[in-house]
Amino acid sequence: MLNTLANHGFLPHHGKDISREVTQNALFDALNINKTLGSFLFDFAITTNPTANATTFSLNDLGNHNILEHDASLSRSDAYFGNVLTFNQTVFDETKRYWTGKTINIKMAAKARLARIKTSKATNPTYQMSDLGDAFTYGESAAYVVVFGDKKSGTVKRSWVEWLFEHEQFPQHLGWRRPAELFQSADLDHYMEEMQNITKTLDGPGGPRGKRQASHFGW
Ligand code: HEM
Repeated sequence: MLNTLANHGFLPHHGKDISREVTQNALFDALNINKTLGSFLFDFAITTNPTANATTFSLNDLGNHNILEHDASLSRSDAYFGNVLTFNQTVFDETKRYWTGKTINIKMAAKARLARIKTSKATNPTYQMSDLGDAFTYGESAAYVVVFGDKKSGTVKRSWVEWLFEHEQFPQHLGWRRPAELFQSADLDHYMEEMQNITKTLDGPGGPRGKRQASHFGW
């Protein structure tokens, strides 16, 4: 999503030296994410900049392995296999298999997330997932449905999501528009929790990590 924001000029095209204010404005202007949540996400982003006391981050910093970046992504290789920053069609094809209708709901997103984790566990001898990484996987999978899509119904058009991932552009030509309603932390919490509950029913108590995860990105 942040690559998409840079491609559309909501973030700087070069993807570097992104401040709190620029992050908040970009998320609000492009996606109607409230500035408190924007600031909260910036606090995570800044932890990936290796420079002490940094006040900005760059998109490349986000790929520093095992800070926020984690194994079992929906559209990127695990670090063990190669490049974690650029889109990987093979990985994304696996994710897409679980989006079985024209509309993606939270259950489909939960299945796709779980499948990618199982594949990574089975194939990557260095597989790792921190609690924060795990919380991020829930947040990301909820986000493409309810931040990018419709937070009321908990659904999103599959064609929009595929376009977003594959082109890193907003699918305005397919009818996508900036969401009309403000998106807030409580919305994300609600859908992360729903996805965790669904995952439990798909994979037994606690899902693939064998224990119930805290929602709310661990805060
Ligand atoms: C400042 C705000 C944000 C930060 C710092 C951030 C950070 C990250 C990072 C580090 C990853 C890589 C995780 C990985 O796969 O290893 C990621 C992935 C992702 N982000 Fe964000 N993100 C932000 C905002 C958003 C927003 C607003 C959305 C809304 C749709 C979003 C959707 C996603 C999705 C769907 C992925 C998963 C990509 C994949 O697994 O291939 N992000 N984000």
